[in-house]
Amino acid sequence: MSPTILILLYAFFLSEAAATAPPPPPPLRQGFYAETCPAAESIARNILRRAMARDARSAASVMRLQFHDCFVNGCDGSLLLEKRGRMEGEKSALSNINSVRSYEVIDEIKEAMEAACPAVVSCADIIIMAARDAVLLSGGPNWEVKLGRKDSLWASLEAANEIMPSPRANATFLIHLFSRYNLTVKDLVALSGSHSIGKARCFSVLFRLYNQSGSGKPDPAINPTFRKDLDKLCPQHGDVEVTANLDATPKRFDNQYYRDLAHGRGFLNSDQTLYTSMETRKYVKLFARSEEEFFIAFVRGMVKLGDIRSGLHGEIRRNCRVVN
Ligand code: HEM
Ligand SMILES: *[C@@H]1O[C@H](CO)[C@@H](O)[C@H](O)[C@H]1NC(C)=O
Ligand SMILES: *[C@@H]1O[C@H](CO)[C@@H](O)[C@H](O)[C@H]1NC(C)=O
Ligand SMILES: *[C@@H]1O[C@H](CO)[C@@H](O)[C@H](O)[C@H]1NC(C)=O
Repeated sequence: MSPTILILLYAFFLSEAAATAPPPPPPLRQGFYAETCPAAESIARNILRRAMARDARSAASVMRLQFHDCFVNGCDGSLLLEKRGRMEGEKSALSNINSVRSYEVIDEIKEAMEAACPAVVSCADIIIMAARDAVLLSGGPNWEVKLGRKDSLWASLEAANEIMPSPRANATFLIHLFSRYNLTVKDLVALSGSHSIGKARCFSVLFRLYNQSGSGKPDPAINPTFRKDLDKLCPQHGDVEVTANLDATPKRFDNQYYRDLAHGRGFLNSDQTLYTSMETRKYVKLFARSEEEFFIAFVRGMVKLGDIRSGLHGEIRRNCRVVN
């Protein structure tokens, strides 16, 4: 789209918004594609299963997309848009660049959706289905997802940079951030349990190993044996792209993450802080004790995360990386 057309479109939306408040988007619901694309959910699951056979980590990477899409202007597939003209795109945001991965799995699902039922299933909904399947296929809980999202026409690098939390974040900061989305302290601790699967880079932990809060010292909350392992893996002037597991069982979606935190074996500062802080520790202890409680709270959190809407006009993108 040319800049002139974009400006005209923008002016149109503005004048429309001034005349009448935009109607709220239609509610999401389970079985949204039952008539229009009955195979949608099985297509997504089968392709994710194949992706995991090629690369086990793709489950974690795909699940993470839901968080990074939904926190920035709602679950609208904005994360998937490539830079185009004056739109920078969210992929180059600090929390996403060289880090968020497996976009091609979403492309593969989209291609199969387009073959089965053209122009029906949104990229935003594909992320939600695939995130659920990633948890399920990693040994976690199953749940019904609500669908019916539209894809955005725009992405915001600024919003992504402003909103997405740093691995340095402390519990106070995270509690406040999540409350902006009506996510409770319990939701925060449960959703952080997504770090039960997947990996992170030395980049995300170096400051914690060598200069926590500018002290020139490591974070005292790190278990000393664990710290020796991390020092070896992530030396001070080493390769920041080297990856480490986020918990002791990185392919299995379980409550090991919380038991690790209770032993000072959390990888990110934003993980370990959930045990250090009294407001969140009680939930870490609860979930470490009861995987069932974790699964129930996690599912509730994922549904709430998926309910974040943008309220803007949308479309069903034909290709998740570009607007139609
Ligand atoms: C509470 C605040 C959160 C922070 C500060 C945070 C931060 C991070 C960081 C820094 C990484 C590793 C990035 C890298 O080193 O390249 C990561 C990985 C990951 N995050 Fe989070 N995250 C948070 C919450 C969440 C939530 C709510 C979810 C999903 C619902 C999630 C899912 C994941 C997954 C699955 C990975 C591993 C991805 C992979 O292996 O490719 N995170 N997160
Ligand atoms: C938590 O982080 C915020 C923002 O970085 C900071 O202002 C605050 O002092 C920190 N709180 C604690 C208890 O460390
Ligand atoms: C949070 O809840 C309040 C009160 O129910 C509501 O007005 C607000 O729109 C909600 N915010 C989000 C982001 O869902
Ligand atoms: C540690 O962090 C502080 C504050 O951010 C900085 O001034 C200092 O130079 C850092 N030290 C090292 C060794 O990187």
